[in-house]
Amino acid sequence: MAVRKAPGKPVGEMTRGTTAPNRLRRVDLWIAVTQTRALRATDRPLAVDLGYGASPVTTVEMYNRLRVVSPRLQVVGIEIDPERVRAGQAFLEAVRPAGDYADLSFRHGGFELPVDRPPVLVRAFNVLRQYDEAAAWRAWEDLCPRLDPHGVLVEGTCSETGRRAVWVTLGPEGPRTITFAAHLPSLPRPSQLAERLPKTLIHRNVPGEPVHRLLADFDRCWAVAAPQSVFGPRARWIEAVRLLARDHPVVTRPPLGGRGRWRLGEVTLDWSAVSGSAR
Ligand SMILES: C[S@@+](CC[C@H](N)C(=O)[O-])C[C@H]1O[C@@H](n2cnc3c(N)ncnc32)[C@H](O)[C@@H]1O
Repeated sequence: MAVRKAPGKPVGEMTRGTTAPNRLRRVDLWIAVTQTRALRATDRPLAVDLGYGASPVTTVEMYNRLRVVSPRLQVVGIEIDPERVRAGQAFLEAVRPAGDYADLSFRHGGFELPVDRPPVLVRAFNVLRQYDEAAAWRAWEDLCPRLDPHGVLVEGTCSETGRRAVWVTLGPEGPRTITFAAHLPSLPRPSQLAERLPKTLIHRNVPGEPVHRLLADFDRCWAVAAPQSVFGPRARWIEAVRLLARDHPVVTRPPLGGRGRWRLGEVTLDWSAVSGSAR
């Protein structure tokens, strides 16, 4: 699918609107803990939920979760499908009489981001997977320069329930990190997360590419860590990540990649761990 650019029209393509309550809980909590500086970077911080889907539920949840760490945060849900924007506005009409959600709004638009100032956060989840690889790269190139200088784009993909997810953070300068996150009791091996790789990487998961080597190494570490299973899948994951960190540029500084996050079935690596021929 090619990204359409026409004057006055939102940039992008309408895609399936599948979403569900709590699907993005894990990434929201990760953002709240690891991106606090960005969320508080300005006096009037703005966060965008790009492509929120058939129901505004994940935007509402993002508002509730991120305002805990950034109480002045304004949140805008942007959808390319006008019908879905109407669903967001209907939600607001229902809650506004009680004075709730004063800093939440919904707007029709696309990658051009119809907002009045550079956002400190753009969360785009399960949006680019339905584009082709070249269009996904172009979307990154469109979005990054629109961020606040301290802002961050969090672009990722997850399963329908959110139990398995992979996301990339990008700053105005481009990709920074990649995070793998899983519900550990139901994860057979780390490379199962390959099916959730962002569109810019999923076709690179072939022999000779860094992302393929990383996932193969992660599986090898997972196998070596098998004795830890007696203490549960969390202990096995922590040991596998510790082994992986010996050979790969894992971001070990808290809070991004420290053991506290590993305990939750997450690991955040520097983008260079997977980029290679991917830009
Ligand atoms: C699968 S839904 C994802 C919903 C939600 N973010 C989630 O993860 O559950 C993808 C949504 O992205 C929207 N979309 C696709 N391209 C877009 C663009 N360029 N700008 C805004 N919305 C877009 C589609 O219309 C669709 O509603």
